[in-house]
Amino acid sequence: MDAHLHLRKGQILKEVAPYSAGVFGAGVIMPNTDPAILDAKSMLSYEKVVERATRGSGFKPLMTIEIREGTTPSMVRIAHEWGAIAGKIYLPDVTHNSEGGVANIMSLFAIFEEMQKLDMVLCLHSEVSGKSVYGLERKTLFLPTLVKITDWFPNLRVVLEHITTKDAVDTVAGLSNRVAATITLHHLYLTNNDVADGKIQPHNFCMPIPKHFRDREALQRASISGNPKFFFGSDSAPHTTATKECALGCAGVYSAPVAIPGVATQFENLVVSDDIRRGVEDFAGNFARKFYNLPEETRRITLRRVPWTVPQIFNSRFIPFLAGKELPWQVVA
Ligand code: DOR
Ligand code: ZN
Repeated sequence: MDAHLHLRKGQILKEVAPYSAGVFGAGVIMPNTDPAILDAKSMLSYEKVVERATRGSGFKPLMTIEIREGTTPSMVRIAHEWGAIAGKIYLPDVTHNSEGGVANIMSLFAIFEEMQKLDMVLCLHSEVSGKSVYGLERKTLFLPTLVKITDWFPNLRVVLEHITTKDAVDTVAGLSNRVAATITLHHLYLTNNDVADGKIQPHNFCMPIPKHFRDREALQRASISGNPKFFFGSDSAPHTTATKECALGCAGVYSAPVAIPGVATQFENLVVSDDIRRGVEDFAGNFARKFYNLPEETRRITLRRVPWTVPQIFNSRFIPFLAGKELPWQVVA
């Protein structure tokens, strides 16, 4: 299961969805589409188009709505009744299509109360916004807000999305079992040197920005720790080459086609060989299913230790993460 996935809409959805549906049994579908998914009605029509784009694969889209300052408890309740698994919060301007994000998270008291009552998961982009806030500290500065929310709503299930720092790992590990975190493939591989150092690498540019070596190491350790609070969410975020390779390029790493071989390669570097398959199954599936109260995965894929070179480009316009690199693992069926 991919616990954090951007599939977009329209033609891009049709092009990228098969790569996720081919290897994952389910995905938590992010609502920052254009326009965003803000209520049950738009969620249901989005679910239909995602189902159409993944038909025949057995992939289950797990739908979400975006929570904004205009969201009401009844909108949340109706979305939940219609199958929303989670509500997602962005702060303003922290990433792609987040202009309408929530400026004052603590104004959402009634929403959190309703979500806690419904046992609906709260997904937090979890970066403080504002031009005066130093970019690489945005994640860390959000942590006190997380702690406050979990103090006030101890039964609310919260996912801190795409964590990038050691202090986020430590904070999540120290909170109750109702608080978990997703870790992306790219944050297991990258530091901010891989984004801009001598030359700029637009296809590694994403939000939150990858951080220090010590942060990357903390994420790698969390991913292999066997602690079910830490699970895989690719944050696979397709943008075309035209919108990546330009001034004001979009944030996002397109990792869906390399997700599982990429995780297996990381595990190979970090754990003894007997534990690789089991580790990948837990980190990239079982732990998220447990947290989201979903049934166990029944679909199986075959991961072989046969070298595979990641294609340079997909559909002539999406450059994947690790493009052109040889990985020791591949998905063969
Ligand atoms: O880099 C990112 N791109 N981070 C996000 O959180 C959103 C994503 C996107 O939708 O492109
Ligand atoms: Zn995302």
